[in-house]
Amino acid sequence: MRKKIVAGNWKMNTTLQEGIALASDLKNALAGKKVNCDVVVCTPFISVAAVAEAVKGSIIGVGAEDCSAQDKGAFTGEVSASMIASTGAKYVILGHSERRQYHGENNALLIQKLQQALANGLTPIFCVGEIKEERESNTFKSVIEGQMAALYTLSAENFGKCVIAYEPVWAIGTGLTATSAQAEEVHAFIRASIAEKYNKTVADNTSILYGGSCKGSNAPELFAQPDIDGGLIGGAALKADTFMPIIEAWK
Ligand code: 13P
Repeated sequence: MRKKIVAGNWKMNTTLQEGIALASDLKNALAGKKVNCDVVVCTPFISVAAVAEAVKGSIIGVGAEDCSAQDKGAFTGEVSASMIASTGAKYVILGHSERRQYHGENNALLIQKLQQALANGLTPIFCVGEIKEERESNTFKSVIEGQMAALYTLSAENFGKCVIAYEPVWAIGTGLTATSAQAEEVHAFIRASIAEKYNKTVADNTSILYGGSCKGSNAPELFAQPDIDGGLIGGAALKADTFMPIIEAWK
């Protein structure tokens, strides 16, 4: 069966020292606790290696927030999937709405990034989600289907290595959470689309996370939905005290 996952996305919020401190706080908070989901933190590139070191011996998995579409070479400022993997990190967020919005990331680029991540043994956490206008004009399902098309270039085997995160852009960092019914509607839509593209087994085995103002107070209701398999958490992942209740929402 598919995994339940609570993943943090620290975005551009932590210095190296703050990142190590946050990772250590989380490791301590989890020590000796039995949790019912996988726990992941995706950190700025600058701290991926140090955080991977800091969480050794814990259940915490580490990831990056992006990777290059290129393998290696003269690409100043880029960080490759193989470099990320060399730190011990196992995950990489791809296609986050902030990358799509501020860096013009599109399907053609994301297909290359997916291939890089998979070729280097990283689990992509692939983000999809509509903006406010697309929700209001009721075109969100076709928007999400269009974003899923990048994943649908993968073989069933490679698709099976990916995690999906549905993040309605209007709910990110705004305090406006999608209602559990709104989120479940999209998660079920995505799962049905996967079943149509591959088959029901692949769809049933895919973890689909919700992201967008998810916190300890709303996580239990969101995670109770049949097609919501966890969360991708921004603001509430920046303190162990606010991240832990989301992890513990998986009873
Ligand atoms: P917030 O939890 O801050 O709304 O961010 C969600 C997100 O973008 C996670 O990737």
